Amino acid sequence: MIVTGSTERAVLYAVFALLSKIARKESIATLDERQEPYVPVRWVDQWDNLDGRVERGYTGRSIFFERDAVRDDLSKVEDYARLLASIGVNGCNVNNVNADPRVLDARFLLQLRRIADVFRPWGIRLSISVDLGSPKTIGGLETFDPLDSRVAEWWQRKVDQIYQQIHDFAGFVVKADSEGQVGPSSYGRTPADAANMLARALAPHGGVLFYRAFVYNHHLDWRDPKNDRAKAAYDIFHPLDGKFERNVIIQIKNGPIDFQAREPVSPLFSGLEKTNEAIELQITQEYTGQQCHLCFLVPMWKEVLDFDLQVGRDGTPVKDLVTGRTFQRSSGGFVGVANVGLDTNWLRHPLAMANLYGFGRLAWNPNLSARTIVEEWTRLTFGNDPVVVQTISQMQLASWHAYENYTGPLGAQTLTDILGSHYGPGVESSERNGWGQWHRANDKGIGMDRTVATGTGYVGQYRAPVAARYESIETTPDELLLFFHHVPYTLPLHSGKTVIQHIYDSHYEGAELAADFARRWNSLKGRIDDERYADVLARLEYQAGHAIVWRDAICNWFLRASGIPDAKGRAGHHPNRVEAEAMQLQGYVPVEVTPWENSSGGKAIECVQPQGCTASFRFTNNSGLYDLDIEYFDLDNGESRYRVFAGTQFVDEWTANGHLPTTKLGGDSSTRRQIRRVALRPGDEIRIEGIPSGGERAPLDYVEISATP
Ligand code: GCU
Repeated sequence: MIVTGSTERAVLYAVFALLSKIARKESIATLDERQEPYVPVRWVDQWDNLDGRVERGYTGRSIFFERDAVRDDLSKVEDYARLLASIGVNGCNVNNVNADPRVLDARFLLQLRRIADVFRPWGIRLSISVDLGSPKTIGGLETFDPLDSRVAEWWQRKVDQIYQQIHDFAGFVVKADSEGQVGPSSYGRTPADAANMLARALAPHGGVLFYRAFVYNHHLDWRDPKNDRAKAAYDIFHPLDGKFERNVIIQIKNGPIDFQAREPVSPLFSGLEKTNEAIELQITQEYTGQQCHLCFLVPMWKEVLDFDLQVGRDGTPVKDLVTGRTFQRSSGGFVGVANVGLDTNWLRHPLAMANLYGFGRLAWNPNLSARTIVEEWTRLTFGNDPVVVQTISQMQLASWHAYENYTGPLGAQTLTDILGSHYGPGVESSERNGWGQWHRANDKGIGMDRTVATGTGYVGQYRAPVAARYESIETTPDELLLFFHHVPYTLPLHSGKTVIQHIYDSHYEGAELAADFARRWNSLKGRIDDERYADVLARLEYQAGHAIVWRDAICNWFLRASGIPDAKGRAGHHPNRVEAEAMQLQGYVPVEVTPWENSSGGKAIECVQPQGCTASFRFTNNSGLYDLDIEYFDLDNGESRYRVFAGTQFVDEWTANGHLPTTKLGGDSSTRRQIRRVALRPGDEIRIEGIPSGGERAPLDYVEISATP
């Protein structure tokens, strides 16, 4: 057998491809295959801070940095480099796009060299994010004006210094004039002025400059119905098309807002003909469950990459625009924001690794199907048992749809708390503030009118055939309706349902799908190792509970806003629930929860005595077997303990020690303990004992009792 390639890196990829085939039990007896990557740029970005925290990283501290220095022990970095090489990734930007200027200190460059040395054998080139203000903040100049020759000279010297240390340094990533990062606008200059100045410094060494199109004003006046954050990238970058140096790549997020559960494709992909571009996808699940929820993103990325932006007569899908095929660009490609951390699983949820794998595979070949990718991953991760492969693949493939359903459907964005964690529900957090993630829900209807005729005009940024489709309600697909149009709750969708009924139904369906993941996983007991079986099961059970928190928050909010009841009578009706504040309380006191929809009845109870408290009530239904769901709040500032009794029986106990991104009662922390098959008789006292810990006062929301199916 001969395994070969045109470069050392190619041989490495070929070896990995062969190993993958062997592990997946593909026959290699008559193997005669040649592969080449679709595109030169296949990078991951890490948003690691020099102090070791990872922005939007959900899996421990940085593998690269600690205490403002590169870690002494880079063994995890070596593992990461091997992992990335195995899926064809060839570049890694190691620090946060909200860049710390100290990354360019001469002493720090010496340390970065150590990372580059670890990357090199695996074909990974190092790049860093830089702060455009650096000439002023660390360079001693009084300006960072990109058109000032002293500034350009400063950067040239800096770049030369870097290449003295790291001869194969890949380049810079720049976030400027965005979310507090300074940029060329301070001097009335354009992104092209700034990008080209840096690109010229990098060019002699073969380096590239990624300039992020994520530039927008986050102090937008929400009262002006014509304002629209979605328009910003195109408005700024389209007029500059053709003005960028050859080694500049404009890095464009898949959608015009910010990695929501669903967005339309960014119109900027078709707005640049004479400029290199790359698509930025987010592997770290910032708005899609933060690796506490199963949400396999490859189906979403496939929709984006296959979307035809119709720039010509033949098909012109995003994958061909970003890889430079459509307009014969010299470069382009894929950037995935990965944000792995020191935790053993890299991305915390064992099933979330399919997203990193899938990113690499799509960057290598965007024509692979989501099913092929997930089956490959499952085989490589859990072995070749057909039941395992089929079960896990189906769960993964259904998971984005489920997540979208129980969060923000119809293109209304994720409906998460955008001012805080970006994790749990927070319907109004995106409204009436400068961030511009508005969905404009009121008592009559919901959605952003982005049409040319009556709205913000965003639709006009697409090429004519695409714009025509989105301009009209009739031809806008249901799943993006609220992104493009403001409509009454009573509007019928293509599906025949009204908008409001869709909101109710999709949330109930989504939560049901999430519950089903845990059930399906149960069927794998004994087919995979016990450790991963138990770990994933616990996560899926948590997700099933949190999907109910989402379902109820969104349904209750829209029920109150619209005043239109759920035709199926579910939203707002929970006959099997006993609110904690309605129980007999010893030591517990009722507290208000804000926003109100993030707890049942807008209230919860907290234990105000250190020795513990009890909440109890009498069971009044018939004798039989029942499931008890205890809704409590798991904050990140304590580990309360709970014990449950029914009549004379001790039923369950647990410690609230999950790691959720909050110290507040609400949709981020609300967690469900599911207790199955409890024998109850009428008159039994159900008693919950809570023992507080730290700032967490054994909080409770409600108990739901339903007959065991
Ligand atoms: C999101 C994210 C930020 C990040 C930004 C970016 O807004 O929440 O943490 O810095 O994207 O992509 O620059």
